[in-house]
Amino acid sequence: MPSLPELMHRTFFRTLSLLSPGAQGTILRRYFEWRHRIPDPWKLATDSYEQHKYHTTLKHLPPRPYRRIIEVGCAEGVFTGALARAYPDAEITGVDVSARALERARARVPENGRVRFVQADILTHRPEPRFDLVFCSETLYYLGRHDRLRLASAQLSGLLVPDGVLVAVHPWPEATRLHGYLDAHGSLHRLGEQVYTAPPRPFAITIYGTKPG
Ligand SMILES: C[S@@+](CC[C@H](N)C(=O)[O-])C[C@H]1O[C@@H](n2cnc3c(N)ncnc32)[C@H](O)[C@@H]1O
Repeated sequence: MPSLPELMHRTFFRTLSLLSPGAQGTILRRYFEWRHRIPDPWKLATDSYEQHKYHTTLKHLPPRPYRRIIEVGCAEGVFTGALARAYPDAEITGVDVSARALERARARVPENGRVRFVQADILTHRPEPRFDLVFCSETLYYLGRHDRLRLASAQLSGLLVPDGVLVAVHPWPEATRLHGYLDAHGSLHRLGEQVYTAPPRPFAITIYGTKPG
């Protein structure tokens, strides 16, 4: 059962998604600039729960020689930095709507030709070339209603090369609903899911591959 603050949070973002995707993107950008008025608003760099989640996520990745990796909704680049360390030969891209968050991400993980940060809305961003590993963690619940989650699933799957891997990490059991839109997307199939139910906040790591053909 979601807490009252969580219910209010989700209702706010669902209401925002009644706007057109462009108008929603503009308000999301303003909201997250405001949210990032203080450094690391979710304590991603210091909270042991977040560190555990990052460590666990990396542990469950299918072992492959990933060359191009993207993290959407990368905030201040805490997990992007972990990816850069775990895959020292890969090109890593972090995407976020907030310029403030990305300024701090660049201070944390300097851009060097291999790592880069891009300000964009994942509902409209279409980078080329594509990626063999795509991450989306703790971000889908900001996108609101069904049609936006369907659009987000299409956008995320559109980032992948054939035979790419997509990893979604969200609170459990809400992940059932959020990741259900990825399950329903015709070009993705589930490779596996791990659910961690320990307090303070259960979460699920769901891994998808692209369907052949
Ligand atoms: C809670 S943080 C998650 C950070 C990171 N993924 C993690 O798990 O450590 C959510 C981030 O998603 C970003 N975000 C929200 N909606 C977005 C969108 N439509 N496009 C790109 N970034 C978005 C926010 O600016 C925020 O920095």
